[in-house]
Amino acid sequence: MYIDTHAHLNDSAYLDDLEEVIASSMANEVKGFIVVGFNKETNKRAIELAHKYPFIYATVGIHPSDVNEYNEENKNLILKQLEDPKVVGIGECGLDYYWHQDNKELQKEVFRWQIETSKKLDIPIIIHMRDASLDTLNILKEYDNVKGIMHGYSGSAEMLEDFYKIGLHIAIGGVVTFKNAKVIKEVARVARMDRLVLETDCPYLTPHPYRGKRNSPEYIPLIAKEIALLKDISISDIRDITYKNVLKLFDLEGKL
Ligand code: NI
Repeated sequence: MYIDTHAHLNDSAYLDDLEEVIASSMANEVKGFIVVGFNKETNKRAIELAHKYPFIYATVGIHPSDVNEYNEENKNLILKQLEDPKVVGIGECGLDYYWHQDNKELQKEVFRWQIETSKKLDIPIIIHMRDASLDTLNILKEYDNVKGIMHGYSGSAEMLEDFYKIGLHIAIGGVVTFKNAKVIKEVARVARMDRLVLETDCPYLTPHPYRGKRNSPEYIPLIAKEIALLKDISISDIRDITYKNVLKLFDLEGKL
């Protein structure tokens, strides 16, 4: 079976038909979901879903687009939420210079707080990086051994080794199925199997041939299939190895 390590089932896009989305995902062998929060509202909703469904786990964090929520009250709330056994990681968090360039120092501070929290609690961190590869890497290098996921990895194949050295896993999503996505296809071809996980980032970044429509965890096998082709190994190997990687990383052995 598969686990979608980055599903925003807490997004309002699924308010009307979440049960159906889950059922179609299950029918496509996607039987576990990490629902990722990125601000106060989505953190809360991720936890609600994790309490409602045994196969959903949540993460909570402050996304670089939501750094205005970085204050003592919300920090304490997140620390409290992280005590919940169904909350298994921190993030998504990180740096985004595509959407925001006027608050880089604040973004870095919020990112550092989340790295330090993940290390203190020994839980994985989900890292968002957009147009900020070098700064992201330099901040991560200030810490040794960071456990977590480079979500929607957008770095080069050459930079992979740097992220592996820090201790991170690489998540590949629907973009790998896009015809002209040369860099991520090369990343997928050379990525280490023992550090690979799959994600949709739904409702965004829907894989081919559904590009443009709402994304769903049910499309995870399309991503696995493309990676299998690029690596010239079987899709069942991609499925089984990434599944084991997720169980180990999030300490979910026997729980999913
Ligand atoms: Ni996301």
